[in-house]
Parts: sequence; structure tokens; C-alpha cells
Amino acid sequence: MPISRIPSGIKGLDELIEGGFPAPSIILVAGSAGAGKTTFAFQFLMEGARRGEKCLYISTLSESSEWMLRFMSSFKFFDPVYIEDGTFVYEDIGEDLARLDEIKLLSKIQEMIATHAPQRVVIDPINVVNNYIENYRQFLFDLVTMLKNWSAVTLLTGEVKEGEKYPPDVGYTADGIVTLIIRSEGDVVKRYVQVLKMRGTNHSLSNHPMEITENGVEVLRARF
Ligand SMILES: Nc1ncnc2c1ncn2[C@@H]1O[C@H](COP(=O)(O)OP(=O)(O)O)[C@@H](O)[C@H]1O
Ligand SMILES: [Mg+2]
Repeated sequence: MPISRIPSGIKGLDELIEGGFPAPSIILVAGSAGAGKTTFAFQFLMEGARRGEKCLYISTLSESSEWMLRFMSSFKFFDPVYIEDGTFVYEDIGEDLARLDEIKLLSKIQEMIATHAPQRVVIDPINVVNNYIENYRQFLFDLVTMLKNWSAVTLLTGEVKEGEKYPPDVGYTADGIVTLIIRSEGDVVKRYVQVLKMRGTNHSLSNHPMEITENGVEVLRARF
């Protein structure tokens, strides 16, 4: 049976992964601060919204939607109409992290998913949960199991320290790993994207140059 796929919304990326993310799947988007994870995640959801898919963005950082949308609205891919009509839902669980245990946090996320019934989900960034939840690995395992039963395409973003490619605990449960790289080359700093893992997909493993502009994240060249 051929794997069904959905377009990522990132220009130049789908050519590297046989046309898009496998659907359903759980994809880790990893990178250091400023690498472009949040921008990538919003582009992915806005692409879904344009296609009439219900989209759910869950922030773990206690950032209000006004705060986040102010930044995101400077990008051309951003269309506030989908926020207004409820196709794109913004939720924040930052406050819940400090006061809920693993079970309650999971059921909170599950409830959000059941309420909004999204085809695309983002949790940004997932690794922050590790600062609050005692058994983070168990939480990840249960979260991924829950998401697999729901069968949307979920992006989990993972912030890494310099030199680290992706958070390993999230990486091994994910169906795909996309890393966003910032690298100094002499006096210049360059951005790259690398697809490290994509189950069921004959994908490129190269570092592909990318840029962030008013159009968001864009992969510059498809090289194999
Ligand atoms: N209009 C723009 N043009 C070029 N680069 C931009 C623009 N807007 C944001 N950026 C770049 O994107 C970065 C923010 O990316 P973000 O998605 O928030 O990263 P992360 O979530 O990985 O920390 C900024 O630090 C900046 O370098
Ligand atoms: Mg971010």
C-alpha cells in the first residue's frame, strides 16, 4: 500500500522526502535557538489551514497567542483569517506544566486534540516538558502512543545545544527527524536543513542550504 503524504508547506523540502510527510506520522524538527523551528512549524500549519485542514499549535512556553502571532504575522505565509475562523487553533500549556503531573498533562493534551480534531498538530518546543515532568521518557512514550491513535501529522520541535543534532529521547520515538542547522563558515553564518530520518521514505541525507526570509523557511537546492 503506498504511503499517503501531505505537503510540508516548506518550499523545497517535499522534493527531498518523496513529496511530503507520511500521514499519519510524528516528526521531530530539531535545532538550536533561532534555527527556525517555530517558523517551520507555523508554515506547516498554515499550509494545512489553506487546504482546509484543522490545525492545532500547542506552545509549552507560556507565550500568549497575541505575542506569538505578532511575530508570525510578519511572514507572508501567515494569514490571520484562519485564526479568526478557527481553522488554526493556538493553545498554551506553559502554565499547566508547573502544576500538572504526567497523567493530567497527557489528558489535557488529549482533550485539546479531541476538542479540535486537528489533522495537523504542533507541540513547540517539546523538550521544555523535561524541566517539569518527573518521568519525561514515560511521558514521551505515552504522548507518542496517544498521537499514533489519533493519526494526524504531528510536529514536535526540539531545542538542542550547540553541537547536538537532536534530542535523542524524542528522536527514537519519532517517524521522522528534520534538523535545522546554523553553521559558521569563516566569517559567514549559514543555514542548512538535513533529513536524518523519514520512515517509509527514500530521502536525501545531505545538508541542504536553506534560508529564512519574509517567506519563511525555504530550502534552496535539491541535491542528492
Ligand atoms: N523576516 C525575516 N527575514 C529573515 N530572517 C528572519 C525573519 N524573521 C525571522 N527570521 C530569522 O528567524 C529566526 C527565528 O526563528 P524561530 O523560528 O523563532 O527559531 P526557533 O524556534 O528555532 O528558535 C530569527 O532569529 C531570525 O534569524
Ligand atoms: Mg521557537
